[in-house]
Parts: sequence; structure tokens; C-alpha cells
Amino acid sequence: MSSDGLNRRKRVVNRNGDSNEDNMSSRVMSQEVSPESTQNQSILKRVMSLMALSMAILAMVYYYTTQSNDTKELVMTSVTQDIPWEPRARGNKFWVDRHHELIDQTVAHKTDAKIVFVGDSITHLWQSRGKVVWDKYYAARHAYNYGIRGDQTQHVIYRIQNQEFDGLYPRVTILMIGTNNAYGGNTVEDIAHGVNETVKQLLGKMPNTELILLGVLPRPEPLGAKVKQVNELIAKLNNDKNVFFLDMWSAYETDGKQHTELYVKDKLHLNEKGYEVWQQTMEPLLKKLDPTL
Ligand SMILES: *[C@@H]1O[C@H](CO)[C@@H](O)[C@H](O)[C@H]1NC(C)=O
Repeated sequence: MSSDGLNRRKRVVNRNGDSNEDNMSSRVMSQEVSPESTQNQSILKRVMSLMALSMAILAMVYYYTTQSNDTKELVMTSVTQDIPWEPRARGNKFWVDRHHELIDQTVAHKTDAKIVFVGDSITHLWQSRGKVVWDKYYAARHAYNYGIRGDQTQHVIYRIQNQEFDGLYPRVTILMIGTNNAYGGNTVEDIAHGVNETVKQLLGKMPNTELILLGVLPRPEPLGAKVKQVNELIAKLNNDKNVFFLDMWSAYETDGKQHTELYVKDKLHLNEKGYEVWQQTMEPLLKKLDPTL
């Protein structure tokens, strides 16, 4: 659930809470009306202290229910899978900050951005594990990184619809996305649908760009087989006009054996050698699309 949704829900809960308190105080008021004898007064005192106690218990119950509802919701968010082709913001501060940083990057580099990389952590990590390769091959060619770790297709779609690419005119856009949807439990067909929509949205914002759609990279089973099937479906998005599918699979796996020397320990993310292989594998297509790059 988005942070907006969470806030909205909290507001609803607060409203209910407030109205409960209102009912409560009017009941207390009616109890206070016309105590006549001392006996009545002592009964009243007992009633009052019981009321106070029950209000305290109610307050505690209210506090703990709202707390556990929030926790439940957070757990649900990570278990319930979004629809891969419908825009979805992520709620955490890291993501929101990075999203705003990328909007700022766009504003600052509207006129000079020539190559943009879009994706999840595997793209994002060009900034650290791949930095040496990036600085050598891409920095001077006005390439910019639009990866956010943990992103799935629906999150990238949200970013596209919310200013990250507004007014950008890159010659080439490079997209690799979908491996986190596989982890999140989407079906192969739904992930391909999400990638399809992501491509469509990117071209909608940047109609003159040429888009290199990279196949998802090999990862250990059981998700390896799944992302391989995704690649078979999204390969069909290639049109040799403005969408160019490039499957780099064979550079990272041979006969079902992942080239683990190109990956870090998790066998999902690349090490520097892995980024070098990406650059080398993609370079001929990049040059073919624009020899001046
Ligand atoms: C992508 O989506 C379009 C509809 O927008 C559909 O016609 C096309 O078949 C889809 N392509 C793939 C490979 O799923």
C-alpha cells in the first residue's frame, strides 16, 4: 500500500477514534447529572473510576489495534503482489528520496543526457560496483543512471508517470527490469505484460529515443528458469525500429551454468567484471544505433 493510502487509512481510523471519544464523554456527562445523596456520590465515584479505567483500557486497545494493523499492512505489502503494469509508488524514505533525486537529475541534464539507463538494483549499482567501467565507457558520453534498487515494473511505471523523464531527449534508453517481479511472485506472463507497459510508457515520454530492451540476467533457480521465460516473451517487443531487444544471457550463463565469477555472492547482482561484460556485450548495438555516441 502506498504511503498515501496508509495516511488515508490512518485518518479514517482517527476519525472513528475521535467519534468514539465523543460518545464516551457525553455518556460521562449524563452520569454526572444530579447526584443526590452521599451514598449516591460514592457509587458515582466508583462508577467514575470504573469509567476512567475502561477509558484507559479502551485507549490501550485502540493504540495496540492501530499499531498491529499498520504492521499487518506492511507485511501484506511485501506478500501481496502488485499488478506489474499499473503504476505504484514505494513508501519508504530511501525510495522517495531517490525518486526526487532522479527528477532533479532530469531537470539538471535535460539538454545533455544522451544515454539513460533505467531499471532496478542491477542498473542502480553501476554507481558503485560498476563505477570504474561506467567512468571509462559511459560518463563522457553523457549517460545517466535511473536505476532504483528493489524496483519492479510497476514502480518504474510510476516514476515515468511522475516527472523522472519529463523533457528528456536521450538518443538511447537502456531498460532492464523484471527480476524483482519474479522474486515477488508474479507469473511470467504478467511480468512480460509489465515490461511491455514499461517500454510503452518510456516511449510515450521520450518518443524519439531508441530503446535497448535488455533481457533479464541469469539468476539461481528456481527464479532463473522463470526470468528466462520472461525473456522469451519480451523478446517479441523487438521491432527493429525503436525497440531493440538484446539478450545477454549467454554472456552470463553457459549450458545452465551461471558464470558466477561475474556476480557477487548473492548470484543476482554483478561485480565489476560483470559490468564489464555488460558494456562489452551491449557496445556493438549501442554503436549501431548511434555511431556518434
Ligand atoms: C504488448 O502490449 C500490446 C498492447 O498494448 C499487445 O498488443 C502486444 O501483443 C504486447 N506484446 C507482448 C510481447 O506481449
